[in-house]
Amino acid sequence: MDAHFKTFESRLAANAREIEAVLDTLLSQRVLDDEIIRPERLRSAMHYAVLNGGKRLRPFLVVETSTMLGGNRDAALRIGAALECVHCYSLVHDDLPAMDDDDLRRGKPTVHIAYDEATAILVGDSLLTYAFDIIVSTEALDEASKLALILALARASGIGGMAGGQALDLAAEKQAPDEQGIITLQAMKTGALIRFACEAGAIVAGASAADRATLRRFGERIGLAFQLADDMLDLTADSATMGKATGKDAGRGKGTLVGLHGMAWAEATLEAHVREAEALLQPYGDRAAVLADTARFIAERKS
Ligand code: IPE
Ligand code: IPE
Ligand code: MG
Ligand code: MG
Ligand code: MG
Repeated sequence: MDAHFKTFESRLAANAREIEAVLDTLLSQRVLDDEIIRPERLRSAMHYAVLNGGKRLRPFLVVETSTMLGGNRDAALRIGAALECVHCYSLVHDDLPAMDDDDLRRGKPTVHIAYDEATAILVGDSLLTYAFDIIVSTEALDEASKLALILALARASGIGGMAGGQALDLAAEKQAPDEQGIITLQAMKTGALIRFACEAGAIVAGASAADRATLRRFGERIGLAFQLADDMLDLTADSATMGKATGKDAGRGKGTLVGLHGMAWAEATLEAHVREAEALLQPYGDRAAVLADTARFIAERKS
């Protein structure tokens, strides 16, 4: 690994620590001391679901996109934390017996194993709704930006985004989709939250509609690259490295492009996604260096 990439990885790690500090505060007992009653077992399971490792890639994208466009860092961190809550909820539900039925996530027992299935369902419900609470309670943002973030996150998470994509993913286990069907389901189940990360950074920074659209397209590209890499890693990486089960997609009949076209095609396509993502960053010159590195990281990651 070259020195440049090492610098990138330490930046990603430093950002992860910052995001985790925000999340820990948001999900800790000690700050939840107002008059609202919060069942402790559920709160503790939410904390377990979120503060359990993870690359924190989506919050990193929010912060770095916002930084590139001149946004407020504290606001970007909070919006990143809100997005990470939605992402972690999606993982908790994705691992449930009724979905992918996985026991291991981020190197630890999944929430339905460490707690129980009903708690895991409620953790998801509570993290999703908490994300919107966090957005609205972000003081450094004006009302119009908050509304734009709420609408964009609602759409990215719901039937036209992550949840809809998960429904298509499960349907694909029974009836194999064609190539366009796979691309659509992946753009929804994984791409939508990653696209939101980039768009949210632009919203936090109060960027122009044109910049917002460009960053959305950048997010779309790296979102497709992200799931393609995930599907490749399912085949090539071991469970200890990934912190989750691997080698399961083919057996479950998951609709993946790697399954359809093979590894060589997937590698070439991944490279094409990175190139297209880089091309979208052209107008931002050197300011976009970190985002360009992020696109490369997504393609070359080992976990
Ligand atoms: C895993 O996402 C789920 C997919 C969308 C493929 P990540 O690989 O970002 O998982 P964490 O957050 O680092 O654990
Ligand atoms: C999950 O895709 C996407 C989500 C919305 C969570 P996968 O099912 O491939 O994710 P992993 O491999 O379990 O992390
Ligand atoms: Mg899944
Ligand atoms: Mg899964
Ligand atoms: Mg996977």
